[in-house]
Amino acid sequence: MPKLPKLPAPPLPAALQEPPPRPGESNGKGGPIEDAKAAGINVVDWVDERTSLSGAGRWLMFRKVPKGTNWFYTLGSATMFAFLSQAVTGVFLAMYYRPDPAGGAYESIRHVTNEVFLGQFVRGMHKWGSSVMVILVFLHMGRTFLFGAYKYPRELNWVIGVVLLILTMVMSFTGYLLPFDQRAYWATIVGVNINGTGPLIGPYLSDFLRAGPEFGATTLSRFYAIHMLLLPGAIVALIGAHLYLVAKLGTTAPPWMKAEQNPELRKVDV
Ligand code: HEM
Repeated sequence: MPKLPKLPAPPLPAALQEPPPRPGESNGKGGPIEDAKAAGINVVDWVDERTSLSGAGRWLMFRKVPKGTNWFYTLGSATMFAFLSQAVTGVFLAMYYRPDPAGGAYESIRHVTNEVFLGQFVRGMHKWGSSVMVILVFLHMGRTFLFGAYKYPRELNWVIGVVLLILTMVMSFTGYLLPFDQRAYWATIVGVNINGTGPLIGPYLSDFLRAGPEFGATTLSRFYAIHMLLLPGAIVALIGAHLYLVAKLGTTAPPWMKAEQNPELRKVDV
C-alpha cells in the first residue's frame, strides 16, 4: 500500500497559539494601554509583596454600609476635603508669607494678592475655604448628633470629633491675625481678651496667646507657628484616629431604618 503523505496539523485557534499573559505581565501585543496596565499591576504587586499593605487597604475601603445611607453621610468626607484644600493652598501661601509685624506681613500678603501669578485665587480659596470647613464641620456634627451616631460604641469618636471641632475653630482664629491689618489686629485683641475671661485657665490662655505684655512680633510668630505647624499636625493625627474608628465600627444606620429593623423600637410611645 502506497504511503500516504503526512497531512500538516490544522492551525490552532488564535487564542490557543500563545498562552495569554499572566496578570501583571504583558506579551507586548496589547498596545501601550495594556502595557501601562501591566506595569501598574507590577508596581502594586512589588510594593504589596514587601509591605502587605493591600490587606489594610481592603479593610479600609471595602466595608458594608447600612441600608438607608444617604447624602448626609458625605459631610465628614466633605469636611476632610475642605481641610486638604486648606493644607494645599496654605503651603503655597507659606511660600510668600513673612510673619513680620513691622509691615512685612501685610506687605507679603499684598504681594501675593496683587503680583503673584494666581496668588489672589489661591488666597481666596484659603480664605473662603476656612469658612466652608467651619460650616461643614458643624453640619457633620449635626448629622452625627441627629442620627444618634454618638452613642455606644462611638462615644470616643464623638469626643475626638469635639477636639477636631475646637481645633478647626482655633485654626480660623489664629489664621485671622496673619494679614496683620487693622481688622485682624483689633479682632484678635478682642478674641484674646474674651479667652482671658474664661474660668481657671482663661488668664493663662490669653497670656500664652499674646506671647508677651503687648501684641507684637512674638504674638504674630506664635500665631503663625500654631496655625501652620501645631494645629495641622494635630488635626491630621486626629482625623487618622477618627477614620480608623469609622472603619472599625462602621457607620450608624439612620434612625428610621433602625426602627424598621427592630420592631420593638416602633412600640415606644413618643
Ligand atoms: C476635621 C473634622 C472632621 C472630619 C474630617 C471628620 C470626618 C468624618 C468622616 C469621613 C466620617 C465617616 C462618615 C460620615 O461622614 O458620617 C465621620 C464620622 C463620624 N464623625 Fe466626624 N469628622 C470631623 C469632625 C467631627 C465632629 C466635630 C464630630 C462630633 C463632635 C464628629 C463625630 C463623628 C462621629 C460620631 C462619626 C461616626 C458616624 C456614624 O457612625 O454614623 N466628627 N467623620
